[in-house]
Amino acid sequence: MAKMTLEDLRKLRESKQDALRKRDVEGKDCQVIVGMGTCGIAAGAKVVLDAFLSELEAKGIENVSVTQTGCMGLCHVEPTVEVIVPGMPDVIYGNVDAKVVKQIVADHIIGKKLVSEHVFDKPAADILKKD
Ligand code: FES
Repeated sequence: MAKMTLEDLRKLRESKQDALRKRDVEGKDCQVIVGMGTCGIAAGAKVVLDAFLSELEAKGIENVSVTQTGCMGLCHVEPTVEVIVPGMPDVIYGNVDAKVVKQIVADHIIGKKLVSEHVFDKPAADILKKD
């Protein structure tokens, strides 16, 4: 491995700080929560988490935090992701991969439209929040 210069280290620090800022919840009104239980990780949850970070970066979206949680109890549809966007029902998407991540960002987060074929849990219609 080549020796790193001070400038290389500074660039590395800045890129890591950027990544950490995306994981920060403060001041953000939308949340993406990736299930990182054992079955989630085995099914590819880390790839999904990284895909959200890079897709949000690529689209210049800064009001979404990306965090992780444990098991959501949906082993059969891992990787799972909970998405919380103001004015929309909180939903859990299942069978998420990098392609579905792009759909969730484009349709749900930007377009305010559910990616219905991947919704595996959401509040019943009678308890949906009315704004
Ligand atoms: S470990 Fe799979 S649902 Fe909990």
